[in-house]
Amino acid sequence: MTARASLAVAVPEETRVHAQELRRAEPCTLIIFGAGDLLHRKLMPSLFHLMGDGLLPDDFAVITVARSQLDDGRFRTQVRDALKTFGPNGGAGLDQEAWGRFATHLHYISGGLDDPATYIALRQRLAETDATLPGGSGHLFYLAIPPSLYPETINHLAESGIAPRVPDPKQRPWVRIIVEKPFGQSLESAVALNACVRRAFAEHQVYRIDHYLGKETVQNLLVFRFANSIFEPVWNRQHVHHVQITAAESVGVEHRGKYYEEAGVVRDMFQNHLLQLLTMTAMEPPVTFSADAVRDEKVKVLRAIRSIAPAVMHDYSVRGQYGPGMIDGKPVPGYRQELDVAPDSATATYSAVRFMIDNWRWQDVPFYLRSGKRMPRRTTEIAIQFRKPPHVMFPLPEGQVIEPNALAIRVQPKEGIALRFEVKMPGVEVQMASVDMDFGYAESFGELDHDAYETLLLDCMLGEAMLFTRSDEVEVAWGVVDPIIAFWANKRPDHFPNYPAGSWGPTVADEFIAREGARWREP
Ligand code: BG6
Repeated sequence: MTARASLAVAVPEETRVHAQELRRAEPCTLIIFGAGDLLHRKLMPSLFHLMGDGLLPDDFAVITVARSQLDDGRFRTQVRDALKTFGPNGGAGLDQEAWGRFATHLHYISGGLDDPATYIALRQRLAETDATLPGGSGHLFYLAIPPSLYPETINHLAESGIAPRVPDPKQRPWVRIIVEKPFGQSLESAVALNACVRRAFAEHQVYRIDHYLGKETVQNLLVFRFANSIFEPVWNRQHVHHVQITAAESVGVEHRGKYYEEAGVVRDMFQNHLLQLLTMTAMEPPVTFSADAVRDEKVKVLRAIRSIAPAVMHDYSVRGQYGPGMIDGKPVPGYRQELDVAPDSATATYSAVRFMIDNWRWQDVPFYLRSGKRMPRRTTEIAIQFRKPPHVMFPLPEGQVIEPNALAIRVQPKEGIALRFEVKMPGVEVQMASVDMDFGYAESFGELDHDAYETLLLDCMLGEAMLFTRSDEVEVAWGVVDPIIAFWANKRPDHFPNYPAGSWGPTVADEFIAREGARWREP
């Protein structure tokens, strides 16, 4: 049962105008390496939307560097076609006037990233572009390329002098670099990549992307926890029985079989997105609302996560792989039948892990994290499951129990927060029912209309690093998942596939959480 607890909240016009003034990006040139899916589906639609919202400066340019032989005109046509599909309102009716304005900012250079000539051409084009941006310009480099190309591209950028190290964050014009995920495939490779980045740049110049941090609901975790006084007193081991963090997807591996065979679910979703959700849920209040204060607290949580020894790994984690099944009434293939996937693949597409945080606040409170592909629907949720009342004085009918209170933070879709509690059902008898007090973003503020990448791109242009992972953070996170990956890599799964597409995961996952006296929520 749901009780609507919120009324529409109109965001005052002054607030919007104020935000535009405060958050308008500084004049700059964005240099994007790579013209693949990320550029067409996310980066260009986000930039186009930012321009529409008046958040891009007039002195702004994008130079894309990629292998295909294109000139500015043909590249712009490609981007226009992408915006028709992935742009605002699913691209419905691309605003021609806005497109015309946007297109003039776009430039293209073709060349291989291993070829020094590409960087010579880039240097030349940057100089020409800078000359047309009278406002003085920062340079933001974006590695939207396969991770195997990161080190070489970074080295070329440094050696060619195009992207110099800038020790002082206040120095202008600024130089920054965005590194996409995955940042490494293990602790060892992340340390090596950090070393390579550090040889070329100061840490304040580096923005490591985890797009979950750009999601509105994830940012709201800070406000929800630390701008309200009623939740913090119960946000601890005295009151919380366990926490469940779920990231379920209905899609399979799509066209990314090759990448996914190497990655698997733990690298793909746990090391980054799920651990970020965990740290934001579990961290102590930061001293200030600043990048380093927030990231310090997140790192402390990661450091407090109990490392899992191989001997007890089965008590802490389970895994699965989807077989053929039905999603939305349509048959879908199993993982082993997907493109570029081995017919006897041992890669996990589902995992559930129990993390224990060894500190005063969370001692003995399990954090269950689970993620899977080809589940019945796409949903990401953080659920705080509170303890049951210590004593029930009500005479309950045989077999009936009191449901514990739960606070569910819906990260996506239907973004919002629901608090579940017990009420007396109307009538002469004392009968109870669980109801939800529910806040929905859409009902209160209208549909969320901007993508995480918009927030993240804008933050980079403004030099705000709070929503990006710091070098130590990314390394500690790998340290947390590496033992899990290593343990399972040595096991041959006898029972894969062990869940049909369209189900909530393997039965071993249900047994796993039941051993602890809990059960998975159906989000
Ligand atoms: C990516 C993973 O980082 O996140 C994908 O590589 C996954 O496999 C995606 O599908 C999920 O992101 P979102 O924003 O759709 O939840």
